[in-house]
Amino acid sequence: MATDTVNIKITKVEESRINTVDFNNLPFGKFFSDHMFEMDFADGKWQTPTIVPFANLSLHPATSAIHYGQSIFEGLKAQKGENGEVLIFRPDMNAKRFNQSALRMSMEPIPEELFLEGLKALLDLDRDWVSAKEGQSLYIRPFMFATDDYVGIRPSEKYKFVIITSPVGAYYSEPVPVKIETYYTRAAQGGVGKAKAAGNYAASLYPAKLAAEEGYRQLIWTDAKTHEYIEEAGTMNVVFVINDTVITPSEENDTILQGITKKSVLQIAREWGYTVEERKITVAEIIEALKAGTVQDAFGAGTAATIAHISLIGFEGVNYDLPPVETRVLSNRIKNHITDYKKGRVEDKYNWLMRV
Ligand SMILES: Cc1ncc(COP(=O)(O)O)c(C=O)c1O
Repeated sequence: MATDTVNIKITKVEESRINTVDFNNLPFGKFFSDHMFEMDFADGKWQTPTIVPFANLSLHPATSAIHYGQSIFEGLKAQKGENGEVLIFRPDMNAKRFNQSALRMSMEPIPEELFLEGLKALLDLDRDWVSAKEGQSLYIRPFMFATDDYVGIRPSEKYKFVIITSPVGAYYSEPVPVKIETYYTRAAQGGVGKAKAAGNYAASLYPAKLAAEEGYRQLIWTDAKTHEYIEEAGTMNVVFVINDTVITPSEENDTILQGITKKSVLQIAREWGYTVEERKITVAEIIEALKAGTVQDAFGAGTAATIAHISLIGFEGVNYDLPPVETRVLSNRIKNHITDYKKGRVEDKYNWLMRV
């Protein structure tokens, strides 16, 4: 779909709510900007895209997403650049992943151009909500769910696509203690782990709660079959540096969400001269390296935190400490670099920023 054919019907708020939000106190995902993008799929096609004042949705009690979980989402961020322009980091990748998720969940794909133009128009209208303060950004949440009012299991014939945005501060400030999970599972081969399906997150809450009772902030997920291989860290991809080599689980199975942050980290690390290995990683080799003291760095990579340092790793009742965060070369350098990149403070050499 060509850009100039995307005709978005815009209804603006009468008065902005921005002055009701305390930008010095921004809990994650609690406040929402003035407008939202909304578009329905019906009669075999996406209907007129609209931008409307942020408001509740009204749903039929039989709305099929509520019953059978055809529901997917994305998460990305916009920053305010030095000269006031709005910068969105790699939104084309989110549009692509969204459609991969839609495919796996038998839902209706959205033309990438439409996804991106909708996002752009929304951010243009709510640009004042993108804070220029250090560490703050506008979190963007596109989502789609099945809207057939029908209690019967089949792919829905109707869908709603919405984009909402939320001003946020820094996600994790402290390094996180994590536990290697060897009973519960996030994703099994042949399942939906590669999709950003709502149910994946619901299923992770109970094991995460149990781990929290033991004092861990996140789980390191392992493969469903043997629990011998490392997969992800909570809602982030996981990266280790051992003996100066960057290692991360490969995405060859359909159990790992293909993270955009991790992909960016690996590309930059390679360019900085690091050896990067995307391969199967066993729990045993990580524990061995922790015992031997050869783990130089361990972190989660994801949109919310960009880089979340891991403070310690728990496995079978033993906690293994990681080196002090100040001594970690890659995670600190890359965190600063990607933060600067998103803010437009370094050259956009990979053409990763969409400007609004
Ligand atoms: C399960 C899972 N893994 C990894 C990631 C990291 O992906 P990204 O870097 O695209 O945010 C996310 C967050 O989106 C996630 O939910």
